[in-house]
Amino acid sequence: MVEAFHPDHYEPRVPSELLEELQDMDNPYPFTPERVEAGQQIYFGKGQCVTCHNDNGKGVERPGHSPRDFTDPKWQETRTDGELMWVLRNGSPGTEMPVRVGKVISEEEGWTVIHFIRTFSTGIQQ
Ligand code: HEC
Repeated sequence: MVEAFHPDHYEPRVPSELLEELQDMDNPYPFTPERVEAGQQIYFGKGQCVTCHNDNGKGVERPGHSPRDFTDPKWQETRTDGELMWVLRNGSPGTEMPVRVGKVISEEEGWTVIHFIRTFSTGIQQ
């Protein structure tokens, strides 16, 4: 049976053999106000992220488990952009987090929406 609920939000979501490589991976696009704005449009638009992650990034309550709280600075510090990209490409197995990159958004849009997600804890865009 697949374990659908990860009790520890900080535990890595990526396969352990890839963790080091993903932690070294940089976001290839610069963090600029234009890109944060574009990321916001993806989040609320074609990426459908808002459906589960809510407009405040705290996540909608769903049966079994709720999505990550993007406003949690400890979670933000724990995760690298490379790890988030892996989740966008593969989903979070055993949870409702679906594959996004390659399905509903492109690679570049994936990196762009990651920049926007970072602003939930820094409050830059709000
Ligand atoms: C159908 C609901 C749903 C949609 C749509 C969705 N997510 Fe998620 N997302 C989840 C759930 C549930 C989790 C928690 C998964 C877990 O516990 O591993 C999650 C987790 C995440 C994480 C955290 C992974 C980690 O390493 O902790 C990121 C980043 C993320 N989602 C980004 C996005 C983005 C960006 C979009 C839109 C392009 C999106 N999600 C769309 C449900 C969703």
